[in-house]
Amino acid sequence: MNVLRGLFTKSWSSDIQLEGKTAIVTGANSGIGKETAKDLAKRGARVILACRDLLKAEQAASDISRDVENANVVVRKLDLADTKSICDFAELIYNSEKSLHLLINNAGVAMCPYSTTADGFETQFGVNHLGHFFLTFLLMDLLKHSAPSRVINVSSVAHSMGKIHFEDLNSEKSYHPVKAYVQSKLANILFTRELATRVEEMGVRVYAVDPGLVKTDITRHLNKSLQFFVKTFGFLIKTPAEGAYTILYCAVTPDLPTGNYYSNCAMAPCSRAANDDNTASRLWAVSCHLLGIRWK
Ligand SMILES: NC(=O)c1ccc[n+]([C@@H]2O[C@H](COP(=O)([O-])OP(=O)(O)OC[C@H]3O[C@@H](n4cnc5c(N)ncnc54)[C@H](OP(=O)(O)O)[C@@H]3O)[C@@H](O)[C@H]2O)c1
Repeated sequence: MNVLRGLFTKSWSSDIQLEGKTAIVTGANSGIGKETAKDLAKRGARVILACRDLLKAEQAASDISRDVENANVVVRKLDLADTKSICDFAELIYNSEKSLHLLINNAGVAMCPYSTTADGFETQFGVNHLGHFFLTFLLMDLLKHSAPSRVINVSSVAHSMGKIHFEDLNSEKSYHPVKAYVQSKLANILFTRELATRVEEMGVRVYAVDPGLVKTDITRHLNKSLQFFVKTFGFLIKTPAEGAYTILYCAVTPDLPTGNYYSNCAMAPCSRAANDDNTASRLWAVSCHLLGIRWK
C-alpha cells in the first residue's frame, strides 16, 4: 500500500524559515489552504487567512494557533465571487500591511451547478480565474514593493482536459460543470505564464501548482459515482497536508524558475493548450476587458 501511495505522494520537507514575511492564502479556512497557512505560520510568517466565511475562518485561525506556538495569523473577509469584496479586501491590506511576500491563490469551487457571481460571471470562471486575476492585479504594487515576492496559483492536473472557450467564457450558451472547472484550471496556468513574463524584472515570481488528488470538501458537488471513487480509493488520495507540499515547495524553494507548472514538488509538463502563448495573452486581454481594468 505504501509503495502505491508513494507513486502519488512525494514526501517533502524544508527547514526554510519565513520570519518577517507576510503571506495571504485565499480559501484558507479548509482543506489545502488551511494546511498551507498552518505550515507558513510554523515557519514564522504572518499569515492572512482570506476567506468568505468569517466564522469558518476564525475557527481555522484558532485551530492553527492551537497547533503552532506564537502563530501570527489574522482573518480577513474576501469573497472572490464579488469584485466589490475583492476591492474592500485589497484596500484593507494596503491600510494594514507594510509588505506582502507571498500571495497564494488557492480558493476554488469545483463542478458546481450553474450559478453566477455578483458581477454576472459564471461562478467557476468568475471565482477560480477572474477573482484571483483581479485580486493579484490589485495587490501587485505591494508585491513589487516587497520583492522578492511570489504569486502561487493553485491549478489542477484536470487543466489538461480544458480549453478556453472564448466564444462562451461564461457558459451562457451551454453549461457543463466539468467543462467550466477544467477551463478555469487551465486559465490559472495561462495567467501564471503571462503574469510571470510581465513581472519577472520587478522581482515577482509566479508559479502554477497541481496539488494532486486530495481528500477535501472540494468534492461536495461531485456526482455519486465520483464520490464513490474518492471513497473507494481514499487510501491513494493525499491528505490536505500532503496536498499543500507543492504549494509550499513553490513558496520557499530558492531560485525556482518562474512561470512554470509544478506537481509533486517538481516542475512538470502541462498540456499543449496551457503552453500556448497566444491563448495566454488573449485570455489576459479578455480578462482585463471583463473586469474593466487596464493592466499593462
Ligand atoms: N482536492 C483536490 O483533489 C484538488 C485537486 C486539484 C486542485 N485542487 C484545487 O485546490 C484548491 C483548494 O481546494 P481544496 O481541495 O482544499 O477544497 P476546499 O476544502 O473546498 O477549499 C476550497 C476553499 O475555497 C473557498 N472558496 C470557495 N469559493 C470562494 C469564494 N467565492 N471566495 C472565497 N473563497 C472561496 C472555500 O470557502 P468555503 O469553505 O466558504 O466554501 C474553501 O475555503 C482549489 O483551487 C482546487 O481547485 C484541489
